[in-house]
Order: sequence, then structure tokens, then C-alpha cells
Amino acid sequence: MKSISIAIDGPAAAGKSTIAKMVARNLNYVYIDTGAMYRCIALHAMMNGVPFEDEEGVCRILTKADIKMQPDGTIKLNGKDVTSAIRDNEVTMGASIVSAYPRVRTYLVSQQREMARGGGVILDGRDIGTIVLPDAELKIYQVASIECRAKRRHLENLERGIPSDYEELRKEIEQRDYQDMHREVSPLRKADDAIEIDTSDMSLEEVVANVMDLVASRIQ
Ligand code: DC
Repeated sequence: MKSISIAIDGPAAAGKSTIAKMVARNLNYVYIDTGAMYRCIALHAMMNGVPFEDEEGVCRILTKADIKMQPDGTIKLNGKDVTSAIRDNEVTMGASIVSAYPRVRTYLVSQQREMARGGGVILDGRDIGTIVLPDAELKIYQVASIECRAKRRHLENLERGIPSDYEELRKEIEQRDYQDMHREVSPLRKADDAIEIDTSDMSLEEVVANVMDLVASRIQ
């Protein structure tokens, strides 16, 4: 069977990683969470006492960030397990800031292309279909209403025992979307040849089945 490359882009908290992981498991593909890499750079800046807004400072320490993504989903930064630390709220907002810096993007995009070499991969992010893998055989642009995204994230937090405020979450997601869509370099946008899926009124299973049908049509 032909091994293809799959790109999933879309705004924050649209459920991209959940779908990507499930599809990767079905196909026995490698899943690459590119957002986690930008989160690692934000955490790296924090650990080095560099404010997110200090572009020069962030870029100076950039190459000292050794990011390893393990097959079981563990993410290591300079040998340390940061899988949950990168989900912290401050890091989340910081990732949106540092991801606007051209040098940060160049550094991570080349690593992402290297990891995706050979196909049999599914990457999720903001610029996969437009910049990282413009030749990907299947490009999905996954969206959902802001209410739906904030509600899903809120319930997820409560389930994990993390304190959560729906209105605050909604504002943060909107702010991230604005920043990610309005930055100068590689802003979030739908690739011309991407297929848009609005998951607002769909179950997880329906979205996965939809993506699997699209994969089948590309593999044939
Ligand atoms: O997907 P995520 O929420 O984990 O991403 C965190 C931040 O990283 C997001 O606000 C924008 C940035 N990002 C990006 O600019 N390009 C990507 N390919 C992935 C994420």
C-alpha cells in the first residue's frame, strides 16, 4: 500500500491532534505534533529567563533546544520529559508569540521536513499544507465554532482535574487565533487544495471516518 503524507491544519483547539493520533493509529503512520515543538521553544525561553517578546533573546538560545518526540507521545527537551509542562497556560500563550519569529520557524520547519521524509506520516499544525509539506497527498483544514472549541477544551480540563473558566478559555483561544492568523510569516490559512472539515456538529468517530475515506481515495 502506498504511504502518503497527511497535513492537518486549523485554528487552536479544533481537535486536530486527537484526530491525527487516531488516524495515525489506524494507518500505522507516524504522528508529528508540530505545535508541541513551538511549545518547547516557549518553555526553553522560560527556563532560560528570556521573555517571549524578546525576539533576539529567543533566537539566540534557539539552537540549544534539543527536541525529541518519542513514538509513545513523550516529548523531551534537552533530555527532560516536558510532555505535560508544555501544556501549561503560560507556555501555550508563549508558543503563539515565539512562533511568529522567522528564525524559530526556519529552525523547526527544517526538522519537521526531515522527520516527514519518506511519507507514512501525519503532521498537524498551522502551516503544514502551505509551507512544511506543500506536496502532501492529503490536506485537511479542520475547523469548529469558537463556542464548540472553548466548550470542548473546558470539559477536557475539568476531566483532567485542571481548574478551568469557559469565558477565559474562549478569550485565550480567540487571541491565539488572531495572532496565528495575522503574523507576517506563515500565518494560519487554508491551503488552496485543502479539504475543509467543520467538526462543530460531528462526533470524533464521524470525523475519523471522514478522514479515513479521504485517505483511501488518495491511496488508490
Ligand atoms: O497546535 P498547538 O496549539 O499546540 O500550537 C501552539 C502554538 O504554536 C500555536 O498558537 C501556533 C504555533 N504553531 C505554529 O505556528 N505552526 C505550527 N505548525 C504549529 C503550531
